[in-house]
Amino acid sequence: MDDIKVLIDKKLLSARIRELGKQIEKDYEGKEIVLVGLLKGSVMFLAELAENISNDVGLDFMDVSSYKGKESTGNIRINKDIRDSIEGKDVIIVEDIIDTGRTLSHVIQYLKQKSPNSLKIATMLSKPSRREVEIKVDYIGFEIEDKFVVGYGLDYNEKYRNLPYIGYIE
Ligand code: IMP
Ligand code: MG
Repeated sequence: MDDIKVLIDKKLLSARIRELGKQIEKDYEGKEIVLVGLLKGSVMFLAELAENISNDVGLDFMDVSSYKGKESTGNIRINKDIRDSIEGKDVIIVEDIIDTGRTLSHVIQYLKQKSPNSLKIATMLSKPSRREVEIKVDYIGFEIEDKFVVGYGLDYNEKYRNLPYIGYIE
């Protein structure tokens, strides 16, 4: 068992997700929204975010693998694509954490080709000091320092996704 310390507890996390939901409601007043979650890490955040948005909300999912340590031109592999058309829709990509930004920048490029009306990004966590690709992130739960974090969907070798808080491994 790894020694895991709490970085952001559930109460703080839930309060922040509620705020993001209210912000999204304001920004999309009267509009239908499609949340596209990136599997698997985003599922807890996505579920709680969706609960806190009173608009009509559609859900879809993508599963992508990035080739890390490769050239910036490196592509992503799409293991699972979204199921429904997003043409003309207002889409928010929902991510667990943005690290280098490579994964998300490829997903953005890919989804833009599907002609959504708008495309924004919501992430539970961001590590700005690690960024290699510039991305405009519209909704950020928390900015954190360069620590390896787990919980609330985030894993270490597929473990700890079910922790009800964000922790880091010492
Ligand atoms: P990026 O392409 O470097 O931004 O990679 C982002 C992806 O790396 C995230 O969606 C996570 O799956 C994974 N990741 C990055 N940092 C962490 C972390 O601290 N804990 C768990 N997964 C992480
Ligand atoms: Mg991920």
